Amino acid sequence: MNFEKEESSLLEAAIRYAKDAGQLIRERMNGIQVIEMKKNRSDLVTEVDRYSEEFLRRIIHREYPEHWILSEEDNGQADSFQAFVEKGPGCGWIIDPIDGTTNFIHGIPHFAVSIGIVREWAPIVGVVYNPVTDELFYARKNAGAFRNGEKITVSAADCMEDALLATGFQALEWKPDTRLLKQMNALTGTCRSFRLLGAASLDLCWTASGQLTGFWHDGLHPWDAAAGIVIVREAGGKVTNRDGAPYSLRDNTLVASNSRIHEEFLAVITR
Ligand code: IPD
Ligand code: CA
Ligand code: CA
Ligand code: CA
Repeated sequence: MNFEKEESSLLEAAIRYAKDAGQLIRERMNGIQVIEMKKNRSDLVTEVDRYSEEFLRRIIHREYPEHWILSEEDNGQADSFQAFVEKGPGCGWIIDPIDGTTNFIHGIPHFAVSIGIVREWAPIVGVVYNPVTDELFYARKNAGAFRNGEKITVSAADCMEDALLATGFQALEWKPDTRLLKQMNALTGTCRSFRLLGAASLDLCWTASGQLTGFWHDGLHPWDAAAGIVIVREAGGKVTNRDGAPYSLRDNTLVASNSRIHEEFLAVITR
């Protein structure tokens, strides 16, 4: 089997599907009709998330009937890692039909369609498309990372003092003893600043393109990370768990950076 040829054609397909889903979202974003609560008022889904997801599932199922699909609204959140493992080996598509639903609902133009493709659970293709800015990030294993056709690389910053970092959380899951509070405390006075931008897939892409120096997050789901981690790694960055081992989609903590600041970054957030 010629994997390179297969991966290149999978990337082309994922780009087409992400752009088509983005077009569907663009057409509906000014007339959202249904906002449903999932676990709580910080965990929402709209009919547009579902529409985008159904479109993607239908087309992938038709074009790649032998591949499995894991997607946020269809597979739920509680057992996402279990669901991921149970999908089995082979090729699978991991989809977030709108990453950044809260931004989407509030009219903040920072959300994306995220499509990752894995083989034997290892990410091989990543595509992230922001339909408002028309920014398309993509990468495939060993072939570099791109934004709208231009090659991207991670930031050249080599110390925490020059690092702009990002993270995320769900407000109603906040507990006073949350690790995040301690981490933010440790980072204040250590890094240049940090941001809460609300779309993990784009945080990863901005780390890949050097706008951010790094990103960390606890409790991401496979659909938040599958595409972005390929893009960061192909742009020369590093993505690990909190122990510094290569991040796997089953890990709880994700730490991504331009690689140069990684050790220092890890040391501060695991202090
Ligand atoms: C969320 C976003 C957010 C992150 C949350 C995710 P959703 O995804 O990526 O940035 O902090 O943990 O759940 O629900 O908007 O697809
Ligand atoms: Ca969600
Ligand atoms: Ca998401
Ligand atoms: Ca989502």
